Amino acid sequence: MNNLERRGDCNSNLRNDVKHKLDIEAQQVAESVIMNVFPEHDILGEESCGKPTATADWLWIIDPIDGTINFFHGLPWWCCSVAARYKGTTVAGSVFLPELNMLFEAVCDGEALFNGRPIKVSSTSDLSLAMIATGADKWDLDKRSFRFMKKVSEMAQRPRILGAAAVDMCMVACGRMDGYFESGIYTWDMAAAALIVERAGGETETLCQYPKHRMAFLATNGHIHAACRKHLLPMLSDRSCQL
Ligand code: IPD
Repeated sequence: MNNLERRGDCNSNLRNDVKHKLDIEAQQVAESVIMNVFPEHDILGEESCGKPTATADWLWIIDPIDGTINFFHGLPWWCCSVAARYKGTTVAGSVFLPELNMLFEAVCDGEALFNGRPIKVSSTSDLSLAMIATGADKWDLDKRSFRFMKKVSEMAQRPRILGAAAVDMCMVACGRMDGYFESGIYTWDMAAAALIVERAGGETETLCQYPKHRMAFLATNGHIHAACRKHLLPMLSDRSCQL
């Protein structure tokens, strides 16, 4: 938390993205902690300096700061996300919001927890009454991002862009959002939070897999899942909407 005063300490502040020094430093700390205990494990992270192709049975997936732009601007809505996968299956995940002291966690055979208490997804079953979190990058705005944004706005009661994908999914896990969809997130954005949603009774799905760990991803309370796919899949199979 001492590093909060370094919010503005970035390598680049571009129109599309912020490259933060703390993102890289936090990734290095996480990697060294893991490698000290499990030197034979692989690590994949947003700022990873590990091997490009994982070959070990165990893979740690890290997003040191998810919601980097929120962090940079002073919004507390950002998190650190860590997942552990064994032979391709996520077995543990945790998402921590340091400034709000909110910890979400799950293991593959246990309940999802929020600050130690079990959580459940919402019971909303009518998509037109659902609140759906989403996100949009600034590449191909007209071609892709706005079209997905429009679709989510049409199909739900309200869309929300809060700026940290893993936190969005944790909101689905604890029933404060009914769903989350984004057309181009990365494995490190979703790995931990997806397990948390599933263990809270929700459903998650990679709707389209792209190269370089990128995907279109849907996480819902389960009740609205089929309806969401029905709206989104035709768009995702349209080549002009693909990454
Ligand atoms: C981003 C955030 C944002 C989402 C982007 C992500 P980052 O992660 O989760 O909400 O819309 O797709 O890449 O860059 O802050 O770690």
